[in-house]
Amino acid sequence: MIKATPETVLLINFGCKDIQKFAREIRAAHIYTMVMPWTTPDARILQESPVGIIACRDEAAPARPEEEKRLAALGKPFLSVTKLDAAPAVEFCQKQCGCHGLWTIDRFIPEAIEDIRKQVGDKKVVLGLSGGVDSSVTAALIHQAVGKQLTCVFVNHGLLRLGEPEQVQKVFRDTFDMNLVYIDASDRFLDKLAGVDEPEKKRKIIGKEFIDVFAEAAAEVDAPFLGQGSIYPDFLESIPMDGNPKGVIKSHHNVGGLPENLKFELVEPLARLFKDEVRAVGRKLGLPEVMIDRQPFPGPSLGVRCVGEIKREYLRMLREADAIFTEELRASGWYAKTWQAFAVFLPVKSVGMRDGQRRYGYTIALRAINTVDAVTAQSVRLPWELIERCCLRIPAEVEGISRVVYDCTPKPPATIEWE
Ligand code: XMP
Repeated sequence: MIKATPETVLLINFGCKDIQKFAREIRAAHIYTMVMPWTTPDARILQESPVGIIACRDEAAPARPEEEKRLAALGKPFLSVTKLDAAPAVEFCQKQCGCHGLWTIDRFIPEAIEDIRKQVGDKKVVLGLSGGVDSSVTAALIHQAVGKQLTCVFVNHGLLRLGEPEQVQKVFRDTFDMNLVYIDASDRFLDKLAGVDEPEKKRKIIGKEFIDVFAEAAAEVDAPFLGQGSIYPDFLESIPMDGNPKGVIKSHHNVGGLPENLKFELVEPLARLFKDEVRAVGRKLGLPEVMIDRQPFPGPSLGVRCVGEIKREYLRMLREADAIFTEELRASGWYAKTWQAFAVFLPVKSVGMRDGQRRYGYTIALRAINTVDAVTAQSVRLPWELIERCCLRIPAEVEGISRVVYDCTPKPPATIEWE
């Protein structure tokens, strides 16, 4: 169950495309907001002891005056809006609902630590660390709360980017002094993937192998608790707007597909937070900025960016090219201005030249996209000089590459990843 906090303002969703953005904007004024569908029963609403209720509806969406009346009759300050404008909503929260701006990261952290301690007691917690923002911040927070009772398991499946396994070990083992089990399962994964070129088959192999390796390691830790980096949008997105009122906020959601016989109680300290709040917590806890500002990275990792059959040699070229692209993006300030930017390895050979010699090498595609929700995406118009620099550097510095192309296909018709 996502815990209530004092001075909660409920946003009741009557059909709003941008309700998550609205909720975040009000939170930026240190007012804690929760989103619920209009089908939520009164008892569930009152359970949160809200200090105010805002009914939110896009002008296109059907009006439901009876339902709004029901909400207004709950005896809480009530506002109905069809324009998601944060400024008047914040004013309503402060003036009508009496919000004091209590929702701050400085208050959240000690509260979350206290909650983790209460939940876990003197028992052990195991956590699958990917190096991504959510799992890293979860690890740092649980570690603050229960120290060495937490064991993080980091699986290197051989599909990570250049320097990633080293960075994760350096930060969590050396800087934070955490119990970290590092498993180099590269051979196990890459042997299973040998000869497989069908994207869905590749994904299935990676997913299954990952669960097996993690489950083996978790069994050794023998912990009753599993730390998970689920964040508030993960919960919101699993609630249909007109959905089953009983499942309004799910207390347990999919444990990353772990087998049923692994019985864990979940510890999900980020369940109330939006992504920008997660980042703020991570910064406060001292995680390095390169981990905090990391772009999303898919679970199957470079497996879906190495087109067709995966070979160690292909992965080497992909890693080196991707590192060059990332370095150029960071140096020019474009890393922070793109949602995702990455290299893709194409097993397509073409003729090139290097040191006056003919080279018959492979191809790297560069892709940079911006999106709000990853459902649609636009390719980013990176400066031509930046693309040109990568086109010169990658064939010169990566043995085996003779050509670089830029993928400017939006989604749709393409997807963000190539596989
Ligand atoms: P597509 O390629 O479907 O990607 O346009 C949309 C977003 O989802 C990410 N992605 C994944 N993330 N496991 C993940 O955790 C996956 O199998 C997966 N496939 C795609 C992708 O990076 C993009 O942000």
